[in-house]
Amino acid sequence: MVVLTGAGVSEESGLNTFRDSGGVWEKYSVEEVASIQAWQQNPQLVLDFYNKRRSDAEKAQPNGAHKAIADLEDKYDVAVITQNVDDLHERAGSTYVLHLHGELTKMRSESDEHLLYAYNKDIKLGDKAKDGGQLRPHIVWFGEAVPKMTDALGLIGCADIVIIVGTSLSVYPAASLLDFVSDGTPIYVVDPNTPNTSHLKNVIPIRKKAVEGMKELMNLLEK
Ligand code: OAD
Repeated sequence: MVVLTGAGVSEESGLNTFRDSGGVWEKYSVEEVASIQAWQQNPQLVLDFYNKRRSDAEKAQPNGAHKAIADLEDKYDVAVITQNVDDLHERAGSTYVLHLHGELTKMRSESDEHLLYAYNKDIKLGDKAKDGGQLRPHIVWFGEAVPKMTDALGLIGCADIVIIVGTSLSVYPAASLLDFVSDGTPIYVVDPNTPNTSHLKNVIPIRKKAVEGMKELMNLLEK
């Protein structure tokens, strides 16, 4: 079973989505805070943005949807592929979580993506890694490669059941993962709105918020 999640799964934990009304990209311009160009041109603004997001995520608690996804492991072999950078899936108990867009609990050298440290307080300009590189959040920014895509493709291609929770499916390459779901595999979509799934087969929509929607899905899977 592969569960692909986005910002909507953490909305009921108090973390804003990106593209809904009131979402993050209404307050900030994605180019100014979440791109490699932004980091090169205005690193202070980028750090302010991620330092705030890190502390918000640290205060948030997993909700019933994160917990239901973790509980699926009682009956299924589950891989969570998330676009989220919070660690709420892990804190709810999911044991295999692949973060396509990086993790807010980690920071790294800007000159070596493998030189990682725990990100548990604000990063300041001038904070250096062991190799002398400026520390930056361990986040995949627009304009950067998505190193975990290869693993994600391998997982989704083998899935017997796919569950999508709380993503508008508007960011690539993440959204393209669904093109690799095998024929006949059911794709459950938990989202109060309708993400762009018109090109997909075997879609079973559950038009509810994540917590209620996951309850309904758990009942469906029991039948
Ligand atoms: P979006 O903000 O694009 O989409 C959020 C989705 O969650 C929408 O389909 C909403 O209808 C749905 N939603 C809202 N509240 C919900 C709730 N309580 N329960 C369930 N669903 C709910 O967020 P993502 O698709 O995650 O990337 O965005 C993908 C990427 O775009 C992010 O990882 C981020 C952003 O730019 C980077 O920063 C690299």
